Order: sequence, then C-alpha cells, then structure tokens
Amino acid sequence: MIVATPSNLPRAVHGIYALIRQGHQVVASSEQPGALAAALREAGLGPACVEVVPHASGAQPLPIVEPQRRLRVALLGHGTVGTGLYRRLAELPDQFTVTAIAVRDVRKAERNGAPARLLHNECRLALSRPHDVVVELIGGTLPAASLIESSLRARKHVVTANKAVIAGRGPYLEVLAREAGVQLLYSASVGGAMPALETLRRHAGSVVAFSGVLNATSNFVLDRMAAGLALNEAVAQAQAAGYAEADPRLDLDGTDAAQKLVILARAAFGCVPQRLVQEGIEHVRDARGVRLVASCTAGAGEVRPVALAAGHPLASTAGAENRLLIQLRDGSTLSLSATGAGRWPTAEAVLADLYDVAGRAGLRPQTSGLGHAVGA
Ligand SMILES: NC(=O)c1ccc[n+]([C@@H]2O[C@H](COP(=O)([O-])OP(=O)(O)OC[C@H]3O[C@@H](n4cnc5c(N)ncnc54)[C@H](OP(=O)(O)O)[C@@H]3O)[C@@H](O)[C@H]2O)c1
Repeated sequence: MIVATPSNLPRAVHGIYALIRQGHQVVASSEQPGALAAALREAGLGPACVEVVPHASGAQPLPIVEPQRRLRVALLGHGTVGTGLYRRLAELPDQFTVTAIAVRDVRKAERNGAPARLLHNECRLALSRPHDVVVELIGGTLPAASLIESSLRARKHVVTANKAVIAGRGPYLEVLAREAGVQLLYSASVGGAMPALETLRRHAGSVVAFSGVLNATSNFVLDRMAAGLALNEAVAQAQAAGYAEADPRLDLDGTDAAQKLVILARAAFGCVPQRLVQEGIEHVRDARGVRLVASCTAGAGEVRPVALAAGHPLASTAGAENRLLIQLRDGSTLSLSATGAGRWPTAEAVLADLYDVAGRAGLRPQTSGLGHAVGA
C-alpha cells in the first residue's frame, strides 16, 4: 500500500505503524523523506518495516483519525517507557489527556519532565483521578498484577508492556476484562515495535512454528561481548541504553525471552507448550555468531543461545533489533523485524494499543476501510 503522509511527523509515524500492525506492507510517500525515515527509525521502524520515498504516484492519503472525544489516561510509571509515552501523549492534546502519573520518586519524575500537578507517589492515588484507561508501566509482578486486576474489575481499559504479568496471569486477566466489557492490550510486552502478537493472532490456526530473537538486551550484550567486552561491561552498556530490565538477570538467564515465548505461543496456538526448556547467555564464552533464540511449536518451546550460520535469517539480528520467523501450514514463512526495546519503540507500541482501545471502545472512529492487508 502506498500512502501519502502528512507533514506532522508524529502523526505520520502513528498512522504508518497502525497500517503495519494490520499487516499492510507500507510505502510512505513524503515531502520530507529524510525526516520521516528518521522519525520512523526512532520509533523502531527501519527500512525493513517501511519504505519511504519522496513522491509516489497513486498514493492514497494516510488515514488520520479524528477523535470524537479525548481518552483520559492514568499513567502508572514514568521510567524509560513511561517518560517516552508521556511525551508522545503530550504531543496529541486533542486525542489524549493524562490525568495522573504514579511513580515512587516524585522529584525525579519532575526532573524528567512530568508536571508536578499530575504526580502521585502511590498508584492507588493516581487511580483515584478520573480516567478511561490505565497504562501500567511500573514493571515487575507485584503490585502491577493487582493494579491491573483491580482496574479491570473497576471497568477500566488497561494497556501494559508488562511481560511478567501477562505471561504469568494473562489468561486470568483476559477473562476479567471480557467479563467487565473492557480491553486488556499488551502489544509492547513482546518485540517492542515489532507487531509480533498482531501477526500471530491474524494467522492463528495456520501457524506450525515460530522462532525468533526476542530479547534485545541479550542481543546487545552478545554483540558487545563478541567485540571484546566482558559480560558485566556489556550489561552496563545495555542498562545505560535503556534496554535492560531493572533486574538484568531476567534478560541474561532467558526468563524474559521465555515469558515472551509464552505470550506468543498463546497467540499462535491458543495454549502454552507443555515442554519449555530455558537456557540463558550467562555461560556463553565465545559470543561470535551467537543469538539467544526462542523457538516454539504447539507442543514444545525452547530458549537457548545458538551459534547460527552466517546465512541464517536470524544471524544478522543486531543490537536492539528483534526478529521473528513464522512458519505457516502452507509452507510459507513470514519474517518480521523491528527495534525490540528502548524508550521510543516501546512507547510507540503502547500508543498504538491506546489508539486501538479508543477505536474499539467507540471513543473515535477506526482506521479502517483500506482494503485487505497484504504480506505479514
Ligand atoms: N525498557 C524497555 O525497553 C522495555 C521494553 C519492553 C517492555 N518494557 C516493559 O515496560 C515496563 C516498564 O519498563 P521501564 O523500562 O520503563 O521501567 P523503569 O525505567 O524501571 O520505570 C519504572 C517506573 O515505574 C515506577 N514504579 C515502579 N514501581 C512502582 C510502584 N510500586 N509505585 C509507583 N511507581 C512505581 C518507577 O518510579 P521511580 O522511578 O520513582 O522508582 C518508574 O517511574 C516493564 O514492564 C518492562 O518489562 C520495557
């Protein structure tokens, strides 16, 4: 699909990403192609995800949605991802209003750009402010899981990037959401800007297997180790770049990738594989050519470091990139890639979920009517 993009770069990025999530292969025609390509890269969408061209004949206007009313957001967490999301939402005042932000250290959040009038040092206080949707970005299992649960019970939509909670309690929370008639969306919990969940759900029933590089920290660390750094030095660089989890052991021992595998397996096969083997990268000595690969069929899943041949489609997954290969019953393989972590790609995925909440909840029209999705 060839689309003519508006001059407002954030809106162009959100619109293009919405189409990619729906499975469209997008060529974006722009009067400022360099600037648009840079904005897309910042959001984790490089040339493998979308082609940007100066002018294209036959381009149709990128659908831009006009909200019927603003979505009120209670934001829990103003860390790596929360800071980025708050800034994105503040750029869209006609579409979103952040009514409260919860953190532990209010002063730090103020220094990082959060307005003092919105800040609370307790999630429950933030949730006492009026809101339509809760965005949970505090991470960890508790209190995040109980906050999500109580929000769903209070009939609030929830968007989260929390793979630990969704891997562990996703099905239970989805039942609660269904019973309450609200939505629970968690695209950002797997793959950053890579539309892994959306694609697997679209092909559910036809998926034979998937395999991928799903943990940006391991990837980044293995790259640095292959370049000569010690494990702890490489981890410190990943933390400085905002990729690593608060507790990087979960990245290094394969837990983070295994949690993502579980979430993807549910989307692809409707269940978690009965056997799941997990091995991390802590004991890798020679990191050259090694990637932490998560692979899964309906019956068995595995996360382990693999020395890949140079020509393997996952071998060149570099830095914070994530890749996913999906084998379908008809013998074809779908390939996805995008930046898998970091402030802006993760914030973009959360924002896309917020647009979906707004659309499905009837708060604004959907970006539909574009014909059939192609490719992945
Ligand atoms: N970073 C990434 O690249 C990435 C990618 C994909 C998914 N995710 C997921 O996104 C979520 C957030 O990650 P992050 O990297 O943004 O985390 P982070 O930088 O550690 O930020 C966490 C934020 O939550 C606040 N917080 C933590 N516990 C709290 C509590 N009990 N009450 C109130 N506030 C609390 C912290 O406040 P203080 O700063 O005041 O302590 C901080 O503002 C996690 O679930 C993570 O797995 C992250």
